[in-house]
Amino acid sequence: MDKLLIRGGARLAGTITISGAKNAALPILAGTLLSAAPVVVRNVPQLNDVATTITLLQSMGVEVTFDDKLAIEVNAGNVRERRAPYELVKTMRASILVLGPLLARFGEAEVSLPGGCAIGARPVNLHVQGLQAMGADVVVENGYIRARTDRLKGAHIVFDVVTVTGTENLMMAATLAEGETILDNAAREPEVVDLANFLIGMGAEISGAGTSTIRVRGVQELGGTDHTILPDRVEAGTYLVGAAMTGGKIRLNRTSPEHLEAVLLKLREAGAEIQTGDDFIEINMHGKRPVAVDIRTSPYPGFPTDMQAQFCALNALAEGVGTITETIFENRFQHVLELQRMGADIQIEGNTAVCRGVDKLTAAPVMATDLRASAGLVLAGLTAEGETLVDRIYHVDRGYERIEEKLGQLGAEIKRVRR
Ligand code: EPZ
Repeated sequence: MDKLLIRGGARLAGTITISGAKNAALPILAGTLLSAAPVVVRNVPQLNDVATTITLLQSMGVEVTFDDKLAIEVNAGNVRERRAPYELVKTMRASILVLGPLLARFGEAEVSLPGGCAIGARPVNLHVQGLQAMGADVVVENGYIRARTDRLKGAHIVFDVVTVTGTENLMMAATLAEGETILDNAAREPEVVDLANFLIGMGAEISGAGTSTIRVRGVQELGGTDHTILPDRVEAGTYLVGAAMTGGKIRLNRTSPEHLEAVLLKLREAGAEIQTGDDFIEINMHGKRPVAVDIRTSPYPGFPTDMQAQFCALNALAEGVGTITETIFENRFQHVLELQRMGADIQIEGNTAVCRGVDKLTAAPVMATDLRASAGLVLAGLTAEGETLVDRIYHVDRGYERIEEKLGQLGAEIKRVRR
């Protein structure tokens, strides 16, 4: 099993390019099922989760051809299987995103219930309830969601809680439903907007994406399109935190600062000097130790839960005391246990982690438990004295393209080892 071996101490310095957003690529690839016409998707990140999604689509009969410039052509003209098997879904929960498109286009879908994961139970009841509101017959048994309909009908759906993939699944389903669908208390994430733009490119009639009320007027069929995926704001935020923790100075190209406002605000509070342009972000810590910050995660445009673990690592060695409150997932402090093994002084009180910054973290063998927790541990390893060995880094590879190469470009001493 691959591990990452990191020798701490280097200040990050230099320039890297940010990849396409994982959490836009996954729903967009699922959305290709909505059309019989070929579509081109560009700036696709080379990640395990993207590979899993492509494998899932191919298992249904979707043709996927790769262009070497990170572009892929997807043709869902001959889908023969309307099923997402447990073997694939268990490795990637986001497979649930094929449910809405399959049901909308073919009137039937059989998708394995995605299990929970390290960060929480991750129920999909709001996805199912929304499809039922649109007239689908849905039965959940033997670990599978089986759905059928003659044709989905537009409905007014109000989400109990803001759900990103719930919003995406139902927005996709609504594009081919009869009549208008209104999604209230919808997720406002930039990845939802990118998906909406992709669907509009295929001929969907969607308004309000990016606000908490999305309106979709169903059409008979969708056509092809050529779409470029937006930059990954969480990848960008992760490297910015790495620079803040190591007192460094880096520049990120092909990124979208307007999608990182809440994170940039906290980095400035931590003492960073930040310059931004249309598609770049520069951070300079001038060699200083970061100052601890208070974080409370909430749906976009609030502080992203996917950046919580990274800021735990920052607070672990910052000056002062910082509190981190996780309001989205019920078990997203797994990284704290590992940071404590590196000498962090963090106490968990309910859904809040109270971090008392220490001068230095110490290297230790640590284990990744979920995607963003592993990113936090890698960042901690960049600063720790000695060699940190991060195990189970398949979690990292799900969401970070060539992480050791990009960190290496920034001067980190990091390599992938097989042990
Ligand atoms: C998406 O997950 C992201 N994944 C997650 O990123 C991200 O952490 C999360 O949104 C929150 O921003 C993708 O986009 C592929 P939710 P999702 O539905 O859609 C509850 C990463 O690291 N809920 O917005 O699964 C749920 O339990 C991943 O890239 C229900 O109760 O998250 C949670 O408490 C991790 N019933 C809250 O809503 C439902 O039917 C938000 O979850 C659905 C959700």
